[in-house]
Amino acid sequence: MEYSIKDIKLFREGEKKVIWALNHMPVIEKLRKLYSKNKIFKGYKIGACLHITSETANLVMNFKQAGAEVSLCASNPLSTQDEVAAYLVKNGISVFGKRGESSKEYYRNIEEVGKRLPHFVIDDGGDLITFLHQKENYRKKIIGATEETTTGVIRLKNLHKQKLLKFPVVAVNNAKTKYLFDNRYGTGQSTIDGLLRATNILIAGKIVVVCGYGWCGKGIAMRFKSMGARVIIVEVDHLKALEAVMDGFWVMPISEASKLGDIFITATGNTSVITINEIKMMKNGVILGNSGHFNVEIKMDEIEKYTRNKKRIRNGLYEYILKNGKKIYILGEGRLLNLACAEGHPPEVMDMSFANQFLSIKYLKENPSLEINVYDVPEEIDKQVAKYKLETMNIKIDTLTEQQKKYLSSWNLGTL
Ligand code: ADE
Repeated sequence: MEYSIKDIKLFREGEKKVIWALNHMPVIEKLRKLYSKNKIFKGYKIGACLHITSETANLVMNFKQAGAEVSLCASNPLSTQDEVAAYLVKNGISVFGKRGESSKEYYRNIEEVGKRLPHFVIDDGGDLITFLHQKENYRKKIIGATEETTTGVIRLKNLHKQKLLKFPVVAVNNAKTKYLFDNRYGTGQSTIDGLLRATNILIAGKIVVVCGYGWCGKGIAMRFKSMGARVIIVEVDHLKALEAVMDGFWVMPISEASKLGDIFITATGNTSVITINEIKMMKNGVILGNSGHFNVEIKMDEIEKYTRNKKRIRNGLYEYILKNGKKIYILGEGRLLNLACAEGHPPEVMDMSFANQFLSIKYLKENPSLEINVYDVPEEIDKQVAKYKLETMNIKIDTLTEQQKKYLSSWNLGTL
């Protein structure tokens, strides 16, 4: 079995982390028990491009134990947990990824997964699927793919709009049991986690500017607010901006927010949100980080050009002395800071996201002739994941009575 990781000897440390995460991923554990006995994926190859974390390890081990041959590469050069990669290799997964790999290595590792001619592809951000669209030879056996994140789904929908999509894709991100929890509570908590690990600063009293009020931005703003920060939201969408105002946040353009913030977090999924023009307006000593998928939201190239001196302060934190004499601090090199400076979302939310991944790949296997399109996760899967999650949390809910069902399907019963 081929692989390319940092150091196989790290596997014992990885094992402890993966088991710890599994203890907090009861739905994944339940699916493992349900589908490993009769090896539902025997004879199938799965190629995945995901952040190589303890949570991802538990997802890919589910496929492995259900009979699949799995290869895995990183979906970000800075998110790989090398000890987890070592654990996976020890357990028969072909892993290609090292924390801190160059862009060239990153794409070489994507190619390694492509070369293995997967039947199913799991992507986070769309880089593997995009790569496979440029390599006809590698996509010969593909039945379908899944996409984990908002950014990836946008890319794939654009690909399909241009009539270039070559196989069906399930947008796992769009399941309610994914975005309502992972994007909101996962990104909210892990962004704070990354900021604190890299800086150890107090949040209470700080002015925090959150760019983007989608589900990720909402989660980030909510968590900063609850820790005593004064939070400003920057938006381009009127509805989301209005929602932010009514949720109790200050809302203003980036040009105004730039002058006020102590901490800036981008979570827009778009490019060039904080450019050198905004940076020049900022106070001395501001901290900037990105929680969006790609390192395009903060214009790092412009910052590098406008820098007189740069030094590493702590893990995940660099000081830039700008040409105007001010200092700024960048988290995780402008890459998604919750994975670059911390360990990503906690296992309890990845439990639901990855249950959707597992069941969506099973759905693609059971429906091998879907037309080429970008599909939402079937509602039954979403509901099943919510049901399993509540069951494993030992939370019981009520059911409708026959009278209530009848009432809800009636039209003639109104004011009494
Ligand atoms: N994306 C965000 N957090 C993650 C995690 N812990 N594992 C895999 N992908 C993630």
